[in-house]
Amino acid sequence: MINFAHSIGRAFVATLSREAQKSMGQFMTPPEIATFMARRIVAGADEPVARILEPSAGAGILAAAVVHELLLKECPPERIELLMFELDERLIGGLKQLARVMHDACEKQNIVFDWKILQEDFLLSELATSGVAGESLLIVSNPPYFKLNKSDPRAIAHSYAVYGQPNIYGLFMAACARLAAGGGKWCFITPRSWMSGSYFAAVRRTIFSHLNIDALHSFESRRDHFSEEAILQEAVITWATGFAEVDSRMSVIVTRSVGVVDMEKAIVQALPLTRLIGSDFGRAVALPMSNDATQFDIWTATLETYGLKVSTGPVVPFRSLKYIREFPEQGTVPLLWMQHVSTNGVKWPIQKKREYILSDAGSSWMLVKNTPMVLMRRFSPNENARRINVTAYAGDLPSEVIGLENHLNYIYRVGGSMSVEEARGLSAFLGSRMVDQQFRSTAGSTQVNAADLRKIKLPPIMQICAIGRMIQSGSSLDEIDAAVEQVLGEFPCILQRA
Ligand SMILES: C[S@@+](CC[C@H](N)C(=O)[O-])C[C@H]1O[C@@H](n2cnc3c(N)ncnc32)[C@H](O)[C@@H]1O
Repeated sequence: MINFAHSIGRAFVATLSREAQKSMGQFMTPPEIATFMARRIVAGADEPVARILEPSAGAGILAAAVVHELLLKECPPERIELLMFELDERLIGGLKQLARVMHDACEKQNIVFDWKILQEDFLLSELATSGVAGESLLIVSNPPYFKLNKSDPRAIAHSYAVYGQPNIYGLFMAACARLAAGGGKWCFITPRSWMSGSYFAAVRRTIFSHLNIDALHSFESRRDHFSEEAILQEAVITWATGFAEVDSRMSVIVTRSVGVVDMEKAIVQALPLTRLIGSDFGRAVALPMSNDATQFDIWTATLETYGLKVSTGPVVPFRSLKYIREFPEQGTVPLLWMQHVSTNGVKWPIQKKREYILSDAGSSWMLVKNTPMVLMRRFSPNENARRINVTAYAGDLPSEVIGLENHLNYIYRVGGSMSVEEARGLSAFLGSRMVDQQFRSTAGSTQVNAADLRKIKLPPIMQICAIGRMIQSGSSLDEIDAAVEQVLGEFPCILQRA
């Protein structure tokens, strides 16, 4: 059915002069793009009745792609209702034929197919002007593009989306956003111009007050995606879901390709909504133009999320003179200083002066439980390879408690204990090139302190533990980086491919 719609569309466009094609915005979507758009819409559509709206149907290729994808689902709907608007009467005959093809395909799968084709101006239709959201509508559109006069009845009918000179495609987007508000799906392929600039500010406000943006795909090439039509505008596909409330912590899937050919291999990023959409009145959408997103933009966890705390070693030598010992004796436990800690691990004793502390009732408040933790040198020489000098301590020294001198920070679980793999994974992550680069790019050359550690965005705990399982005590920085990159991907991130 997609090919059927495609061939009807091509045959129709072949009869048009370039001028005529432009005046009605009759540029048809290629099959690959139609499928690409439909897949994501249909992925979230699990209702027994699928209601599809194509407001500017042309030869119906987008509707065909949605129906096709619905039929491919493991649990297809019991009933498909399709409503198509098309202003140009020359396309109506082809749409009717297409509807019959769809009907036959549905019948084969025992799916009821109900369709309606309205040869009228969608923007002036009762549906669009009512602005009343349909129940879980699946809206898919490649709308016409051209400028309208402010006095055009369509601009007047949708004045809520007009600010300055309107473009008809913005009105289609806004009108359909209102219709998708009841949990519907909304997918548009359009030029990118709606994303910024004051003329589209009212369109954006309407969109963002009715929809949550799920994903964006941008075409970097100015020609390729509509090669048949040779549209020179850069295009973007936007997928959204009608919502009740915006969750500002949401992420938007962003993909980009040069054109159609590499679309399926597009790199996928998940960027926080707040990074993409401005909070000012204009609500411009800042589509990243290069792969500048990092994992740190996506992670939301911090040490606190995992019940972890960072504190400074409680033993202040000049105040604890009466407990610190040169040599072991009855009741002494290890006292760790900076010199015991390197990125290769904890080494104790090292025949250093005063590496013991007496453990008794008087000193117990300054001793910590001897369990796995991450140790960090608070001060490190400038020539050190990494900004954060951390190591995992497995809790394997021979005592119940240990002393930590004040030039060390330690990360531990409040009211519990870390596992060795957690400590190893966290230490590897914090000491990795990835975190180092992130620090250098944001904090410059300053020392990393406990407050900085508390703010660092962390990967999911499962990934931290996975890193920990790949690390041995004494692993080199290269081995640590390799493990971190194997689990988390290279930096900056490439999350996955589409
Ligand atoms: C850019 S084409 C896209 C066609 C088709 N959806 C596709 O993707 O191939 C836009 C279509 O909208 C139709 N159209 C233009 N203005 C319209 C309006 N106000 N209401 C309904 N259809 C309109 C045009 O005739 C054209 O067929």
